[in-house]
Amino acid sequence: MPLTTIPVITIDGPTASGKGTVAHLVAVRLGLHYLDSGALYRLTALSAMRKHIDPTDEHGLAKAAAGLNCHFNGEHVFLSNEDVSAAIRAEEVGNLASRIATLPTVRQALYALQLGFRSPPGLVADGRDMGTVIFPRATLKVFLTASAEARAGRRFKQLIAKGMSANMHDLLKDLNERDARDANRTIAPLRPAEDAYLLETSNMTAEAAVTQVLAWYAAARKREESHPAVK
Ligand code: DC
Repeated sequence: MPLTTIPVITIDGPTASGKGTVAHLVAVRLGLHYLDSGALYRLTALSAMRKHIDPTDEHGLAKAAAGLNCHFNGEHVFLSNEDVSAAIRAEEVGNLASRIATLPTVRQALYALQLGFRSPPGLVADGRDMGTVIFPRATLKVFLTASAEARAGRRFKQLIAKGMSANMHDLLKDLNERDARDANRTIAPLRPAEDAYLLETSNMTAEAAVTQVLAWYAAARKREESHPAVK
């Protein structure tokens, strides 16, 4: 199958918008591969922290990104064969990930790695720039939104469920700061692709969001079959 004909669904959105949950469920339902691109930025951040790379050392950070020795197995993420699934979810790792994601050299270093996830029978990719930069010709592009309060509430529940401590006030502050950084950076800022479907999920269950994405995907595949285009 030529690489460019392998179907891709991109699901972008701000932090804690539910894109990870929705993208993962859509991938399972359709039997497609799943790329959590945010995990790559988090892995780079964790790797940099462990190597004591200064957060302002762009060259060192890009080297850490290019040299990432990572793999995914189901919902588990490994860095040099160590299961770091929980470690990369820590707020300090997320904050550093958001900061280093503003660096063009880091984004460039992770570009080819992300393209490599596109393999048969297809891919569901979630992140910030999946539809705008990494897979601009995706079969279906979705952009999830939710109010900052709804997203902070979700993140709070996730952290508590994992036995980690959390504070709504701090979470909301972090989330607003991260949103501003992700949306205002000059390179690959968080924004919907022009041809993305917008889905506001503040008052929607993950299941309802998945149903909507599957319906959009079925329609997109039908359109492609009737008007095959070189992708
Ligand atoms: O989705 P997440 O919270 O795990 O992502 C962590 C950080 O990585 C996020 O603040 C911004 C960055 N990121 C990015 O810049 N581009 C992506 N495609 C995915 C994540």
